[in-house]
Amino acid sequence: MASVGSAVGLGNIWRFPTVVSGSGGGAFVLVYLGAIGLLGLPLLMAELALGRRGRGSVLTCFRTLAPGTAWWGIGLISVTAVTIILSFYAVIAGWVSIYLGAGLAGRFRGLDVATLQALFFDIAGHPWLPLAAQAAFLALTAGIVALGVRAGIERWSRVLMPGIVVILLVLLGRVVLLPGAPAGLGWFLRPRPELITPAVALRAVGQVFFSFSLGMGAMVTYGSYLDARQPITSSAVYIALADLAVALLGGLVVIPALFAFGIEPTMGPGLIFVALPAVLGAMPLGMLWSALFFLMLYAAALTSSVAMLETIVAHAGRRRRWATGLAASGVFLLGIPSALAAGPLSAFRPLGHDFLGLADFIASNVLLPLGGLGTAVFVGWVWGAERARAELERLSPRSRAGGAWALAMRYLVPALLAYVFVTGLTG
Ligand code: TRP
Repeated sequence: MASVGSAVGLGNIWRFPTVVSGSGGGAFVLVYLGAIGLLGLPLLMAELALGRRGRGSVLTCFRTLAPGTAWWGIGLISVTAVTIILSFYAVIAGWVSIYLGAGLAGRFRGLDVATLQALFFDIAGHPWLPLAAQAAFLALTAGIVALGVRAGIERWSRVLMPGIVVILLVLLGRVVLLPGAPAGLGWFLRPRPELITPAVALRAVGQVFFSFSLGMGAMVTYGSYLDARQPITSSAVYIALADLAVALLGGLVVIPALFAFGIEPTMGPGLIFVALPAVLGAMPLGMLWSALFFLMLYAAALTSSVAMLETIVAHAGRRRRWATGLAASGVFLLGIPSALAAGPLSAFRPLGHDFLGLADFIASNVLLPLGGLGTAVFVGWVWGAERARAELERLSPRSRAGGAWALAMRYLVPALLAYVFVTGLTG
């Protein structure tokens, strides 16, 4: 449940619909499903097994299983990635909290899409409001980590996950009745392999890594909490299916809304902040649903951000409170340009992204696949696929699936990942 809580977050409800709609709908979903089966699930199993065997953070695991080598350098990539991700994650979570307030104040009622779009640019482009909301979110995250009450937070996951699913289902019930929704559903669900490009494939891989919290050591840490009796394969399948289900639900709510309200699918990170209030504003008891929705999304973001900050602090070692304060402050500073990206810094567009998009691109599409590649090569060749398989199948009989997994770890996963990475970046 805790690892589902870490996996489910803004990645499913904010990032998934945004990337899908910016990448051709059904074409993206098709590669996404393939990337889960061929890369996400095997790597999730590998990270969990690695953590259970090495008993600790990525750094500890690499040091224990390959002492005296430079493999712990992968840990460096992963901590950089988590730090960058948390820096803009806090900005998006900040927007969520502002929208929570705006919804409570009844500001979505009767607004048309043009006005909602203007509202988003007012909020995200405000000179200091996003900064304040980002700081508040990080302070809350740091407070939870410093007080060591993470376990308490994770118990929320049991209420939170079903709650989010219920609200998404309610929203879905409203969305499918809107005129224009069927066209959106078709665009989302009809696979169109001819639209797949290397760049789309890389974005799909990046999304799987982001959403499954892979390639950055988070799942290694969770693996170290697993006891020997817990079967890794079925836990991994459960995490993957739960995460996929919430992402698909997010897409089923957001994408038809784009078509129904005539919202530009390429609108970028503000997409759900226009689409969801449009749906909510058209619903009976819209204010109540809106408050519940944004509150739950905020809480879901918090269970993820706590795990991210923990991962960073775990690398820092002793003096936990100091380390927490220092890490959170560093993350805040690093996130300032992202918080200002839609406002004062909007003219600054390196490589065609605004700053938030650039941070996301570097972390999700470059660092995470690299971290994943390193992990796969380490598990397949250094620790050794057969030894890893023995950890995977501890207390359970050797199965064909285990054999296939070992082969995939050695050949398929590294080759596929390297191929998608190189063609996606250059093509
Ligand atoms: N998977 C989380 C989400 O979908 C985000 C995330 C990325 C994360 N890396 C992480 C969560 C590391 C915990 C730890 O929102």
